[in-house]
Amino acid sequence: MKIAVIGTGYVGLVSGTCFAEMGNKVTCVDIDSTKIENLKKSILPIFEPGLEPMVKKNIERNTLQFTTDINEALTDAEIVFIAVGTPMGDDGSADLQYVLEVAKNIGTFMQKRLVIVDKSTVPVGTADKVKATIQKELDKRGVNLAFDMVSNPEFLKEGAAINDFMKPDRVVIGYESKEALKKMKQLYSPFCMSHERFIAMDIRSAEMTKYAANAMLATKISFMNEIANICEKVGADANQVRIGIGSDNRIGYSFIYPGCGYGGSCFPKDVKALKKIAEDHNYTPKLITSVEEVNNAQKLVISEKIVKKYGTDLTGKVFAVWGLAFKPGTDDMREAPAIYIIKELVKRGAKIQAYDPKAMEEAQLFYLKDVENLAYSNSKYDTLNNADAMLLLTEWKEFRSPDFEEIKKQLKTPVIFDGRNQYNIFNLEEKGFEYYQIGKADRNK
Ligand code: UDX
Repeated sequence: MKIAVIGTGYVGLVSGTCFAEMGNKVTCVDIDSTKIENLKKSILPIFEPGLEPMVKKNIERNTLQFTTDINEALTDAEIVFIAVGTPMGDDGSADLQYVLEVAKNIGTFMQKRLVIVDKSTVPVGTADKVKATIQKELDKRGVNLAFDMVSNPEFLKEGAAINDFMKPDRVVIGYESKEALKKMKQLYSPFCMSHERFIAMDIRSAEMTKYAANAMLATKISFMNEIANICEKVGADANQVRIGIGSDNRIGYSFIYPGCGYGGSCFPKDVKALKKIAEDHNYTPKLITSVEEVNNAQKLVISEKIVKKYGTDLTGKVFAVWGLAFKPGTDDMREAPAIYIIKELVKRGAKIQAYDPKAMEEAQLFYLKDVENLAYSNSKYDTLNNADAMLLLTEWKEFRSPDFEEIKKQLKTPVIFDGRNQYNIFNLEEKGFEYYQIGKADRNK
């Protein structure tokens, strides 16, 4: 099929490339000409495992092309995906200006009947706004063209996006016309070999499904973090409680790992946006509000443990930070706990020596740009030199089973704060460490 994907951000680029991989003819559009010129040379604006070679391969076999000209992309297309950003506005709602700008352009340039698919995460009711915007442009042009609206939320995890797209748990399609549904079924059938994975529903329910899914997952994490905090108070161990409850398959093991809070581009933004959607419809969402509050507090649990040990003034203290990205497998630092923890420690006078396998450039350029007393190291062990303690903030594979003798040798004092509960299996106390984790009372102090 011939497809246009508007927006070459994370979602647009992964979706467009995976559609091309299945043999569709895809044109990706972006207004950023530098980005497009780079993409034509297979230079990607993001890091996602497996994406770069797939982009390269599909450019070479002519199934994937890039342009800044939306008109050109629409000429051939049967299906148009809107995959532009919906950043968080000042009031927490999703900012729709880019989505509606694309809708306007589609209305200006479309020459034949199109299926228009909203893939950006948008508030319930946005498809109607997109439809009205396109219709207005068509009316201005005085042309009578039918088009079909579809909502197709994405459920990609960063670091596993290709696999999530190629073998999805489900494809959710919100539709109005039978023709559009038929086209979407045809497009997605190679991805959903099993029919129950293709879930069709009305448009508003599809739009809501995305928010409900992310809010549910964020709720599981915040719930577990709250349980972990209570565990610390009552002398229980959240690691064991997690296994105890996860074995009930109504609860399940996934997304109940306590830690230093969830980050990323989706959970924080979507939880906030869902709260705003509810409030805009005169509903006060108590649970969702708490999910956000618990998470904001959780991002500071590690720094609170540090203050408890060393006092409020951390002048002269040096901390080695392992991991900056919001999770392993990505260079993405949006809403990463590391940002909040590092800023809090530096504010109290500490010095930080940090290492991350992928995210150090992002940190330097954007997220920790103006932070003083922050140095970056070439390897995880280099961070430890002269440091008072090591902090594990992202559970990258290369951090999971380190050489503890080497850590002990390098650190000034053998102290580890584990924000991801990765080291509790190693009997660190027996190895001579002072070991702090999430959800287990600190035994040393
Ligand atoms: C998420 C959803 O999983 C995906 O379906 C949606 O489309 C976009 O948002 P992503 O943001 O890439 O994907 O990351 P994910 O792997 O879900 O992790 C989110 C955050 O939750 C990370 O900061 C992670 O460390 C944290 N997390 C996850 C926990 O703290 N505990 C857990 O048990 C699981």
